[in-house]
Amino acid sequence: MGMVLGVLGSGSGSNMQAILDAIDAGELDARIALVLSDKPDAFILERAKQRGIETGVIDCRGYATRFPDEAQHETAERLKAAGVELVCLAGFLRLVKRPLLDAFPQRILNIHPSLLPAFPGLESWKQALDAGVSETGCTVHFVDEGMDTGPIILQEQVPVMPGDSVESLHARIQVVEHRLYPEAIRIVGR
Ligand code: GRF
Repeated sequence: MGMVLGVLGSGSGSNMQAILDAIDAGELDARIALVLSDKPDAFILERAKQRGIETGVIDCRGYATRFPDEAQHETAERLKAAGVELVCLAGFLRLVKRPLLDAFPQRILNIHPSLLPAFPGLESWKQALDAGVSETGCTVHFVDEGMDTGPIILQEQVPVMPGDSVESLHARIQVVEHRLYPEAIRIVGR
C-alpha cells in the first residue's frame, strides 16, 4: 500500500502538491496521511484540506522562529498517531532538532533551493543572485541537527540567466524541485 508520508510546511505547499501529483500519476507508491504547519493561514493547509487530507497547526508557543521542544514532541506524537513512516519538510521554516529527529531517525527529508553545501539558510535564490554565480540548483537531503547539512539524496543544477530577478530564479528552481522531491522519496522508500 506504499509509504505513509507526513508533510510539514509553512508556505504555499507547491512541493506537497507535486508529491500528490506524482502519487496520482502512479509514479510514487505512497499516500500523505497528515499535513502540519506552524502557520495557521498557510496555503499548504488549504491544499491538503481540499484533498481531504488530515491537517493540523503546530503550536510554537508564540516564538517567531524557534521550534520549541514541547512543540516537537507534540509534532512527533501526531505524526506517529497518523501512522507516518517518512516526514517530508516542504518549505518548513523552523529548524528541526533532537525531539523530532529522535522520533524519526533517518526518516526526515528536506528540499532546499540551492546546490548544498552552497547557500544554506533562507532565501537561497537571493543568496545565489547576490553572489553572482552562473549556476545554482536544488537539493533533497536527510535532515540532521545542522542547518541544511544532512546527507544529500539528490541534487540538480539550475542556470542563473542574465537579468534574473529573485522571482524568476526562484520560479525556475521550483520547476526542478517539483520533479526532484517525488523522485527522492521514491529512492528513500525502496
Ligand atoms: C521551496 O523553494 C523550498 O525549496 C524552500 O521553500 C520553498 C517552499 O515552496 N525550502 P512551497 O511551499 O513548496 O511552494
